[in-house]
Amino acid sequence: MTSNYAHANFLKRYEKSLIEKAIDERAKAFSPISGSQVGAAVLVYDGKIFGGSNVEFARSQNIHAEWIAASDALKYTTAKLNLSARNLKVKMRKGLEEIVAIAIVNEAGIPSCGSCRQMLYEINLNMRVLGVLPNGEFKVRATLRQLYPNAYRSNDGLKI
Ligand code: THU
Ligand code: ZN
Repeated sequence: MTSNYAHANFLKRYEKSLIEKAIDERAKAFSPISGSQVGAAVLVYDGKIFGGSNVEFARSQNIHAEWIAASDALKYTTAKLNLSARNLKVKMRKGLEEIVAIAIVNEAGIPSCGSCRQMLYEINLNMRVLGVLPNGEFKVRATLRQLYPNAYRSNDGLKI
């Protein structure tokens, strides 16, 4: 399922909306500490798009835009499968595979930090990743495999 849905042609159809969503999300960033605004938008196999913005706290963790977009997308894809609790692992694995692409907008068009790349890799290594400038211009267009080679995978046996 993944390789079909993650196909570049599928992304092309939704690319414009995906980027627009990431730009909108960037405007909602709450970043009083760094002043750096990040927006992310995740595309699901059925065309649905989920967004996220970074959120900063002076004395706690910063929340990365990608975490919010990816977690909302995952909740949607897994809930939609409507499998029984007995099939929870299957459901979650399928939920991961149905995440097709992510667009990230920040001032440099850099698609995610290393930690986010690891997370995205664990979601779906065939995912398409777009690194976009605030004016909508592309900086990076890659698959996660290209963007994050030699990914940490020594625990792959534990993957759901
Ligand atoms: N940030 C993200 O939202 N995603 C990343 O992958 C890199 C960093 C945010 C966190 C922090 O609020 C700001 O960008 C500066 O690091
Ligand atoms: Zn990150």
